Amino acid sequence: MKFLRIDRRIRRRFNLVALILLAILVALIWRHFLSSESVNLRATKPVEIAQTNEPIQPIPIAIAIDSAKVALGEKLFQDVRLSQNNRVSCVSCHNLSQGGAARRSHSPGIDGAKTKVNTPTVFNVRFNFRFNWDGEFERLFDHLDALMTNPKVMDTQWQKAIESFQNTPEYARSFNQIYPDGVTQTNIKDAIVAYELSLNTPNSRFDRFLSGNKQALTAAEQEGYRLFKAYGCVSCHQGVNVGGNMFQPFGAIGNYFADRGNITKADYGRYNITKNEADRYVFRVPSLRNVALTPPYFHDGSAETLEGAIAIMTKYQLGRPLSQEQIDLIAQFLRTLNGVYQGKAL
Ligand code: HEC
Ligand code: HEC
Repeated sequence: MKFLRIDRRIRRRFNLVALILLAILVALIWRHFLSSESVNLRATKPVEIAQTNEPIQPIPIAIAIDSAKVALGEKLFQDVRLSQNNRVSCVSCHNLSQGGAARRSHSPGIDGAKTKVNTPTVFNVRFNFRFNWDGEFERLFDHLDALMTNPKVMDTQWQKAIESFQNTPEYARSFNQIYPDGVTQTNIKDAIVAYELSLNTPNSRFDRFLSGNKQALTAAEQEGYRLFKAYGCVSCHQGVNVGGNMFQPFGAIGNYFADRGNITKADYGRYNITKNEADRYVFRVPSLRNVALTPPYFHDGSAETLEGAIAIMTKYQLGRPLSQEQIDLIAQFLRTLNGVYQGKAL
């Protein structure tokens, strides 16, 4: 009897091990398929970043893009047929003439319900290490897939959208020229991702300054940049995107959320993804490229002006009060981060 029981226990354990091994195998195969689906991202060559002695690097001027895909992606980005009720397109919230974002704290999606967080810009997304305020997504393809499926954002009805594009000769022609299998869900997303990867704004006055043209900034703007470094803003906002490359708590020093009140789930930030207590109120540090063009600020859209946002940062991230004059100088520096898109200064 005893023997039998041990035997059964061993057998059960053996079954368990076999099950775990099988699960790992399935996961590996799944991963392989997922990554081969978004070939586009793997095929894009990593962009070479010019190294400077500064903690911020200029946006590369020449980035290879597939112009046919980008042109198709641009049309799709503006097309309401990708939304369930033909009312919303990406442009509804990401307006390129408003810095790639929207001038309101929360935007209505297809059912009219407002987004839980402020819309970030789509400009220069390729230089962010992850996407969304909580950094949920590592790849634009997965991010796009999720927002199109999201019943609050696009709720794309794929069959309807695909048929509609197939029946629009101009679209059908473009898809067939680029993709052997024509209009498909994957190809629609692939073209939009190609477009997203093209939305770069190089040649800001600050980048020209970094590249050696000392005349590109006024003395006041240079002083603003010096303060930005000296006061430690640059410890979080750095790299090509002056942000977008790390996670940090909002309220590193003071308790921003307790002072603001009305805490919502969206305020938990990265905690919502990891469920790790240390990640509560942690966010991806946002890029400050073109930041002057995208008020209101923060994930909750609570700061109306750039100066107001800087004042909050000095209080809750640095715990070092700056004078109004210093805040204005930093704001002047941040305004030099407005770049050039398609030959036009933003
Ligand atoms: C209803 C408004 C709305 C619509 C429509 C919308 N977005 Fe967004 N988008 C947002 C919001 C809000 C976020 C931030 C979400 C978060 O952080 O949880 C976001 C985030 C993003 C980001 C990530 C930016 C970053 O650096 O983190 C990209 C890229 C993006 N959207 C592209 C698109 C594309 C492409 C479409 C169309 C298929 C689209 N969006 C449609 C509101 C919208
Ligand atoms: C400890 C890291 C850290 C430091 C230091 C820091 N920031 Fe931030 N910054 C963040 C984070 C995180 C956010 C996003 C907060 C949110 O909305 O949840 C942010 C947001 C911002 C925004 C709003 C951007 C937008 O698009 O909404 C501005 C502007 C800004 N910071 C400027 C500054 C300036 C200027 C300084 C120095 C005075 C500074 N930051 C110091 C981490 C930091």
